[in-house]
Amino acid sequence: MSESRETATHPAVEPVVAQRGSSRFAAGEGPLPDPAGSHYERRIRSFQPRRSRVTTSQAEALLKRWPDWGLDIDGKRVLDLDEMFGGLPVVLEIGFGMGEATAQMAAADRGTGILAVDVHTPGQGNLLGLADRNGLENVRVANGDAIILLREMLDPGALDGCRVYFPDPWPKKRHHKRRLIQPDFLTLLASRMKPGAVLHCATDWEEYAEQMLEVLTAHPGFENTQADGGYAPRPAFRPLTRFEGQGLDKGHVVHDLLFHRK
Ligand SMILES: C[S@@+](CC[C@H](N)C(=O)[O-])C[C@H]1O[C@@H](n2cnc3c(N)ncnc32)[C@H](O)[C@@H]1O
Repeated sequence: MSESRETATHPAVEPVVAQRGSSRFAAGEGPLPDPAGSHYERRIRSFQPRRSRVTTSQAEALLKRWPDWGLDIDGKRVLDLDEMFGGLPVVLEIGFGMGEATAQMAAADRGTGILAVDVHTPGQGNLLGLADRNGLENVRVANGDAIILLREMLDPGALDGCRVYFPDPWPKKRHHKRRLIQPDFLTLLASRMKPGAVLHCATDWEEYAEQMLEVLTAHPGFENTQADGGYAPRPAFRPLTRFEGQGLDKGHVVHDLLFHRK
């Protein structure tokens, strides 16, 4: 449905334009624009702050579901995942984008909790709308930087898995330092994963895939699930993601990487 039609059929809630630094939802009613504070620390970030329009249906989903199913990554408390997910095993998904693949995976496996993190407000609203309409009680949406979530808000060994599907490729050489999959990130992530938990990455950016394979293979906390030490066949459980579809349209080749936490 187009944004203008949604607006026309839902006149009660106006679409909201994201303003960096301004809070568009009252505290607790929706994601904060900068939950940990932009000057929380000086660090190169793996995401680009974006001005983004939230449609009426996304805003409605945020207002309805954020109080129970959303959380701001403020770096101020450690999450009790057992309480949040009723004791389900919990997989972290970093960078869910618009969340369609996340919702499909949550629907296909309701026995696994998905802690889905992104900074993108329209995507948060979209995923909460999908979760609401499909009764996906096993999804929680975290707003903010996954690094702060991992470092400040998760206990060691808290995660049963991690998914990083089509992370921003940062193609320019001077931006490579912004790529998420790097040794320091892997050290932090490994500390938050249970032994045997699976890290699943996918990318359509050939040279980033090579970097992922190289740093994951070299990292002492992870072990390739593939006996030949290479890429994994695409697992049937991973749906096509929005970003992946765009890459395939351009003729890109997709690589999956499946590594165990040692
Ligand atoms: C290229 S998009 C891919 C989205 C989706 N996985 C897909 O395949 O369509 C990468 C997403 O990761 C998010 N992202 C990047 N770094 C992040 C971080 N440190 N914490 C949370 N989200 C992040 C971006 O906001 C963006 O939505």
